[in-house]
Amino acid sequence: MSKMFVLSDCDNIVHQYLSELRDVEIQKDRTRFRKNLERIGGILAYELSKDLHFISKSIQTPIEVTKGKVLDEQPLLICVLRAAMPFFQGFLDVFDKADCGFVGAYRQEKENRIDIEFLYQATPDISDREVILIDPMLATGKSIVSTVSNLLKIGAPKSLHIVGVIAAPEGIEHISSQIEIPHKIWVGTIDKALNEKSYIVPGLGDAGDLAFGPKL
Ligand code: URA
Repeated sequence: MSKMFVLSDCDNIVHQYLSELRDVEIQKDRTRFRKNLERIGGILAYELSKDLHFISKSIQTPIEVTKGKVLDEQPLLICVLRAAMPFFQGFLDVFDKADCGFVGAYRQEKENRIDIEFLYQATPDISDREVILIDPMLATGKSIVSTVSNLLKIGAPKSLHIVGVIAAPEGIEHISSQIEIPHKIWVGTIDKALNEKSYIVPGLGDAGDLAFGPKL
């Protein structure tokens, strides 16, 4: 089973952002929808930063030399296009010196199953890096599994963090059973289940369409 961190396990402001993301009236405001994804990204990035390694550094202030701490190494952020973009921006605001990679993986509904089309990959070498894979909706988990298997063709990361806003239990189960390297999943919350179209219930609908408008 994957190691898990769930923001909604305790009362905090993320519950309000999630409620706004789910609300059919409020989600008509695309700017607010994107902003709430970005805010949750920033908060999850802060939580995840507690798992990273920091080193001491001498800092010359205008008054005297003191000791500070800085990240030992920058993480590598990987954004799953297109829905992850606002959520990814929240991570980039926190890890503002991070290298970034982009992959294009999207779901194709075929009769009664979902296949993942993996079309685009522009990433640095992931070997020995702290990789953070960013996808807001961990529904079936298939796009994450497909992305990880493509990334592993390049190299082996030092550690792998998979982050989402909302996850379905089925997606977590799929990721846990299919990704063989050690990893940790960080999410805003875990919902009930998937519906027959593999959308998360209660979920929020189609995150990409809500953030950027419907696609063909
Ligand atoms: N992608 C979404 O945007 N929403 C879901 O519920 C599942 C996948």
